[in-house]
Amino acid sequence: EIPGISQPPLSASRFQQCRDLVLSSSPSHQTKRRPAIVMMESDHPVDSKRTIHGHKRLKSGKHKPIGTQDEVFSICNRDGKFFQQLQEQRKQLPIAQGRESLMRSISLNDVTIILGETGSGKTTQLPQYLLEGGYHRQIAVTQPRRVAATSLAARVSAEQGQPLGTLVGYSVRFDECVGPSTRVKYLTDGMLVREMMNDPLLMCYDVVIVDEAHERTLRTDIVLASLKRILALRNGSGSDSNAKGKAKATPLKVVIMSATLDAEKFSKFFESMFSWFPTNDDLTPNSAPVLYVKGRQHPVSIFHTSTSQNDYLDAALRTFFQIHVDRPPGDVLIFLPGQDDIENLESSLRVFAHQLPQGVPNVITCSLYASLPNTEQTKVFRPTPPDARKCILATNIAETSITIPGVRYVIDSGKQKEKRHLARIAGSGFDTLLTTDITKSSAMQRAGRAGREDHGYCFRLYTEDAFKAMAPSVEPEVQRSSLTSAFLQLKVIGHDLDAMPFMDRPDPESVGSALRTLWLLDAIDDSRCLTDFGRSLAKFPLVPQYAATLLASVKHSCTAEAMSLVALLSSSSPLFPDSSSHRDVANESRMKFRHPSGDHWTMLNVFRAYDEVCASEGKSGRKDWCKRNCISHRALREARNIRTQLRGICERMGMDWSLSCGNEESPLLRSLLRGLLQHVALLQPDGTYKQVMGPSVVKIHPSSFLMDKRSPAIVYNELVYTTNIYARGVSAVYKSFIAEFPKLTGVRLS
Ligand code: CDP
Ligand code: MG
Repeated sequence: EIPGISQPPLSASRFQQCRDLVLSSSPSHQTKRRPAIVMMESDHPVDSKRTIHGHKRLKSGKHKPIGTQDEVFSICNRDGKFFQQLQEQRKQLPIAQGRESLMRSISLNDVTIILGETGSGKTTQLPQYLLEGGYHRQIAVTQPRRVAATSLAARVSAEQGQPLGTLVGYSVRFDECVGPSTRVKYLTDGMLVREMMNDPLLMCYDVVIVDEAHERTLRTDIVLASLKRILALRNGSGSDSNAKGKAKATPLKVVIMSATLDAEKFSKFFESMFSWFPTNDDLTPNSAPVLYVKGRQHPVSIFHTSTSQNDYLDAALRTFFQIHVDRPPGDVLIFLPGQDDIENLESSLRVFAHQLPQGVPNVITCSLYASLPNTEQTKVFRPTPPDARKCILATNIAETSITIPGVRYVIDSGKQKEKRHLARIAGSGFDTLLTTDITKSSAMQRAGRAGREDHGYCFRLYTEDAFKAMAPSVEPEVQRSSLTSAFLQLKVIGHDLDAMPFMDRPDPESVGSALRTLWLLDAIDDSRCLTDFGRSLAKFPLVPQYAATLLASVKHSCTAEAMSLVALLSSSSPLFPDSSSHRDVANESRMKFRHPSGDHWTMLNVFRAYDEVCASEGKSGRKDWCKRNCISHRALREARNIRTQLRGICERMGMDWSLSCGNEESPLLRSLLRGLLQHVALLQPDGTYKQVMGPSVVKIHPSSFLMDKRSPAIVYNELVYTTNIYARGVSAVYKSFIAEFPKLTGVRLS
């Protein structure tokens, strides 16, 4: 390729063959015949000469990835050949050469910042170095996403030659795999915040490693801010003598790890701590040193489309087959915003892969996203057979958290899902997931994934101008997502949001909105103090709104129903997946579950029917039943798991979870309302609904099962923003139910 010239990535005739294949058999692609996606190679490839100045550098060695997660799970004895291979591989990772400097820096400093290119071995190796280097209590490694925590724990467990859940374990929401001997724990940043609610100084840990800090999730920022205080109390000499006595016995080490190069901000953040809490200890320098681990990055040629694409799934599909038909071996990694898109594209890819002309290699598809079940993660790491090409469909989880060996081609949709708190429109404490453009920094990381093992190629499904217009790096989540849950958790830990030393201040409007939601829920009182009810809410790994529904169901004697409903609403997959191709069939088969009051009771009817199926059928019978009824098996399976966890929590709290209201609908709807006070809307003369707690006018989503579309009042789960604002997950409620909440009527009257 000659930089800067416009060229299609494959020859016209091969492309035609491939395109005809793609276009002829897909209903959604039949109408439009579009030409090949023309890509321009960029002048600015990702190259191996990226350097950063002023930081210590570690040298890199030679590295060849081996092994599969399958082997990882099955082999945990220290004599096996695979174990030896893993040890060999560990030694060859770039970070291995810096082991001693890392250990020295950590032993000399309270806080160490490690910058490292993705795949250099930070996440898997450093905890093991610490373990082998004599840190005797637990080591926590935080991850922003659950699938990263579980998959990395499995890998490290195998590298230690131990079954998962013994020496090395993980802890994520609704799933934990740890034992009494666990010393290295991979956990989501959210779980570490939960642990702080019971152990505010994190006394059970010697070392806390905050990984993927560059992602700046809300929970990561809370962890960073809390660690600053914990360090002052556990390690600082300026604090009171009690804490000091404890501190000398159990100092805490903090390691911040990031894949991007802007570490100064983290360093400065902790530097200010050292000036706040002066230390007399000569051994402790008053700053957080930054260490740099160089990865192995081969050059990556980057292509942009010459015109912008309005259907990124279609563009990804065509680009994949262009690569597949015309390019040498190497796996393809496609970045997409979310699970829906991944599932859609995966099914299209499979359809076309079955019809490839003779002589074209097979296609193996697999996916990677945050809520992927553990059993399906293994597929991604399975080596590709010589006569095939693997196509991995991933969200931004594959950007820096998880490195998949064998990738040479990256297709970047340029999109991601981002949590947004639309306080102004929604007037609620919930986040909405929006598909947004990625940042320049993400685009570079994504491209970098192609050059791990050899010269790579990145095909961006957007123009070079679009790339130039991207924001440089991500806006911290604390400035754009709902703070309600976080605020409640901080209250329980004993902190106030206002007093937290955040790296970036939260948006005042979000702070106001979180306070208002907690006050409406009665989680805090008029003087912003945590109530007993608030403390109980925080015990559940649920958004406070659903926790309030669950607690209210005790009063209405419907804990069994409320628990099932809340579990379903907390599942990461929708119960009724959108199936645009056979929508009519789907609607008809779901109709038998329909409840006149709307979607909540309809969901509950489905869950009750599924419970009956589970009593008599095995795994495949359950799956078939879901398929026949066009219902997501994944959602129901997950909901049953969540419900079991919730029962355990209720038992510990002495709460009876078996109270049932039978088929009487009001108790459940009143409990639901207790949590969703901000999601109530009243009918207007023109048939639309006006929010009680917000300014918006909403319509009932067309997918709703609610029979009377002119009910005087509705309660809903969420708002969906298209050309209209739709309320989705809707039930009709009596106005008299709403009148039971003086706070709500008070607000309405004013
Ligand atoms: O954290 P960082 O990006 O620096 O690297 P890592 O996650 O520690 O991964 C180090 C190496 O282990 C990479 O080359 C991965 O390909 C490999 N690895 C693997 O093969 N299978 C896993 N399940 C996890 C890591
Ligand atoms: Mg990592």
